[in-house]
Amino acid sequence: MTSSPRSTARPPSAQGRAPFEHALREAAEIAALSPSSHNCQPWGVAWPTGRGARRAAERLVDRAPAGDPEAPDRVSGGTGGRATDEYVILALDRERELTSLPAHAVEMLVSCGAYLQILLRSLALQGWSTDRIHFVEPRAGRQTRDTHGTWPPLGDTWPVSWSPLCVVRLRGTDEPDVPDGSLAELRRTALARRTNRGPYRPEAVEPAVLDGLSAPATGVAEGADVTVRHLVADGERAAFAGLVARHGGRDFSHRQAWRETYSFVRRDAAEAAARGDGFPLSQLFGPLSTPRRHALSLALAPTTMRVLRHAGYHRVLARQLARVVRPTPAVVAIGLADASPGVGATLRGGARLAEYWLRATEVGLALHPVSVVLQHDDVRKELQDRLGLPGRTFFVSRLGRPLTDFPRAPRRLGVRAVRTI
Ligand SMILES: Cc1cc2nc3c(=O)[nH]c(=O)nc-3n(C[C@H](O)[C@H](O)[C@H](O)COP(=O)(O)O)c2cc1C
Repeated sequence: MTSSPRSTARPPSAQGRAPFEHALREAAEIAALSPSSHNCQPWGVAWPTGRGARRAAERLVDRAPAGDPEAPDRVSGGTGGRATDEYVILALDRERELTSLPAHAVEMLVSCGAYLQILLRSLALQGWSTDRIHFVEPRAGRQTRDTHGTWPPLGDTWPVSWSPLCVVRLRGTDEPDVPDGSLAELRRTALARRTNRGPYRPEAVEPAVLDGLSAPATGVAEGADVTVRHLVADGERAAFAGLVARHGGRDFSHRQAWRETYSFVRRDAAEAAARGDGFPLSQLFGPLSTPRRHALSLALAPTTMRVLRHAGYHRVLARQLARVVRPTPAVVAIGLADASPGVGATLRGGARLAEYWLRATEVGLALHPVSVVLQHDDVRKELQDRLGLPGRTFFVSRLGRPLTDFPRAPRRLGVRAVRTI
């Protein structure tokens, strides 16, 4: 790579970095509210401030194909870094990821993509617009997991458990072209968004509202090759509920998957708040008396589940889930056109999901994902075949107007995901 005459030979001083540091902190607090499987929050953000790390980030971003407006990792037209540019590197934190099922790899990228969308939107609203993105695709025959030691050369401050997913160049604009209060509005919506596993009103969601949710996306999600399908016909919804009734017990009967899921279940809200991740039992089953909480905790423990599985307990739980799904007025299925998507496509799919979920929140709709039907390839294929869903469906969820509020799930502090390198 030839280095640009404006390249960042001299990184900004600590004082020069202060405005971006402030903006990044704010953005990380808002992005921390993103949804993630099991609320595992598998993301990390590295901010290169040292000369070597900045240079490495700049070199990577400049690898993004130039001159092709359709190139997937080109967000706008910039080339060559400026001394005032900032970089962030989104990473998957291997210590926080789910691994018990192959499908979790997609869920982790989707979760990180949702985080990225909200992070970059929050930065844009503070005057730091995304100039370029370079997605890190694992080289053939190598897992992303193996790449961080040898690639990229980000120096020894790069956290050992992090695998880089994409490098973003941000360009400061003196007067961001956004109305006052937009950041506060985004924060409000991100706080209001949550998974609501309670009952929804049975009335249909107006078609115009559904169209609004599927409207073209912005930010990283802009132009992503994603299809959004709403299942609203009685036959489609019944087929979906039938599938849940038949296969919804898989997670409970899969030893490793259930052990991993159970490791995210917290006894009560206090434990959940202290850990900052996972979900208290009340998040899954609604408010509980102490004796019921103890009984459920015991019934769901992996050792008990192993025994109860032989008595068909996982099938009882599947039928219970199907009973919640059946009266829901709409189901949304979001898919990638490519049946074997790479890192970039999957992250952008997650970004699209974040945009969709925030829009739904703004119009008073709630979501409750039902991922068990996507986590096993045979079931996912049956679902896609039955409902004519092309490509790779990566998210499926109940959608409707909730009848009750739902408590907020815990979060780690936003800044805990951010490291300077
Ligand atoms: C890719 C993905 C898959 C998810 N799958 C499920 C699921 O199968 N069942 C469920 O109850 N919640 C699911 N969730 C919701 C998460 O559990 C939820 O986002 C997390 O616990 C944080 O809670 P919040 O969304 O209320 O902030 C999923 C979320 C994501 C991003």
